[in-house]
Amino acid sequence: MNDIDKEMDRWEREQGVKFLKNIGIQNNQTVLDFGARVGHYSIPAAIAVGNKGVVYAIDKDQEALNKLKQKAISLNLKNIKIIKNSGEVELKLKDKSVDAVLLYDVLHFFKKTAREMLYSQAHRVLKPDSLISIYPKHISGDDPSHELKTLSLDDVKQEVQESGFIFEEKYCGNISHDDSLNHGCVLNFRK
Ligand SMILES: C[S@@+](CC[C@H](N)C(=O)[O-])C[C@H]1O[C@@H](n2cnc3c(N)ncnc32)[C@H](O)[C@@H]1O
Repeated sequence: MNDIDKEMDRWEREQGVKFLKNIGIQNNQTVLDFGARVGHYSIPAAIAVGNKGVVYAIDKDQEALNKLKQKAISLNLKNIKIIKNSGEVELKLKDKSVDAVLLYDVLHFFKKTAREMLYSQAHRVLKPDSLISIYPKHISGDDPSHELKTLSLDDVKQEVQESGFIFEEKYCGNISHDDSLNHGCVLNFRK
């Protein structure tokens, strides 16, 4: 393992678990990680919720999901349900079945109307009073690109509030982005 792989391995097994627990992920919960890629958040989420909890890891990229599956096997994590979609924002999960939704470094792929559909789908699957945590990477001033490049953190906060979520906190720290750690802020809301 090279140094970067070691850093990400430590993130997934230790710091990422602490980070998710700090934002409110608890034992036995059901977590949805939308746009999970290779699982830099799904793996720590699976550890944080324990073997009676569940993590739904959704992505359209089969190759990335294969890597996530291999990691889950090597860590003996049996509570990650990997779902390959075709890029749609509809969630094939039951109403009020999820305790937390993670939208991490994925919003920039979606135009405003699609983001609103995604928030609405998240709202449908979340239980009352549950958590949606958003890492809006690629906003203005933070490597801006794609559909978020002209938006500020406050703009993202506002559109999520307009979709019916109640803002709870901004949580900043050294967190995973792509395949390394960077300083970033997540926005947490309650349904
Ligand atoms: C930049 S990665 C972020 C991965 C992970 N959330 C993280 O923060 O480490 C974005 C991921 O979202 C996935 N993605 C983008 N649009 C999607 C869609 N409509 N449905 C499912 N996955 C999508 C991409 O395939 C990619 O793996």
